[in-house]
Amino acid sequence: MARILSILVGLFFTAALAWSFGKGAYTQITEPPAVTVEHEFHLLPKHVRFASDGAFGKFDRQQLQRGFQVYKEVCSACHSLSHVAFRDLAQLGYSEAEVKAIAAGFQVAGTDPNTGEANMRPGTPTDYFPKPFANDIAARAANNNAVPPDLSLMTKARHDGAAYVYSLLTGFQAQPAALLKEFPDAKTPNGLHYNPYFANLNLAMAPPLTSEGQVTYGDGTKATVDQMSKDVSAFLIWTAEPSLEKRKQTGWAVLGFLLFATILGYMSYRNIWAGKKH
Ligand code: HEC
Repeated sequence: MARILSILVGLFFTAALAWSFGKGAYTQITEPPAVTVEHEFHLLPKHVRFASDGAFGKFDRQQLQRGFQVYKEVCSACHSLSHVAFRDLAQLGYSEAEVKAIAAGFQVAGTDPNTGEANMRPGTPTDYFPKPFANDIAARAANNNAVPPDLSLMTKARHDGAAYVYSLLTGFQAQPAALLKEFPDAKTPNGLHYNPYFANLNLAMAPPLTSEGQVTYGDGTKATVDQMSKDVSAFLIWTAEPSLEKRKQTGWAVLGFLLFATILGYMSYRNIWAGKKH
């Protein structure tokens, strides 16, 4: 009896599975998922290599300094970098005096020592990068109703981090004719900018890097749009993980120790059991 019952129960589950599979397959054929414009035209990030990639990756400090310059001269007009303090820039190879001068070049929120009222004062090395807008309402008002996100952790927050940022910066283009032909309703709205690397294809950020020589690099590197985009992306790898090199070094040290401990363990095993076998 129990046997028949269990066979019946098994048959019931098998039938239920077969039925739901059949139903799913039938719907897939009769009502295929709608073809969306994002599905057809969204692109995965371009392939781009950074000095910090891979198990032996190290930051190229010269490049990080160039990337910082791009952030400072271009992106900081709209994007905050609120997890980074000016003193952290010493890690990029700037001297104490240079860090002080960079900090002093930014205005940060302060307090008037005489009246106690809020005011603005030049930054000091212990300050964090200031926000370009007083609040989100001001940020939206200036940016087509979109808030420029903080960039400190951007390369950790998006798939393919730095490659994504690089692709986004170099990916602005006119909407392909094929897109408009297939999806006439998907025309990029006024004030937005077509970019196939952005998830919904239309971005509220105008192309920030548009012309060669937009910044003048101190080390003589040619400031092409491609170069500036790569440099600022490398800089954003650093802001998101300043301890990247230490993490990789620690990884190797731990592996070395484990190998050493394994050899030691094996040798003591041999020693303890020496002559006890057979
Ligand atoms: C004039 C203002 C402005 C400038 C300058 C600017 N951005 Fe933006 N950025 C925006 C706005 C607004 C958004 C939000 C776009 C949206 O959500 O549609 C944005 C979004 C982004 C995003 C996020 C995209 C995403 O996946 O959500 C990244 C990354 C970015 N900007 C990088 C940069 C970099 C790097 C620079 C400097 C080279 C820069 N931006 C300069 C306004 C600006």
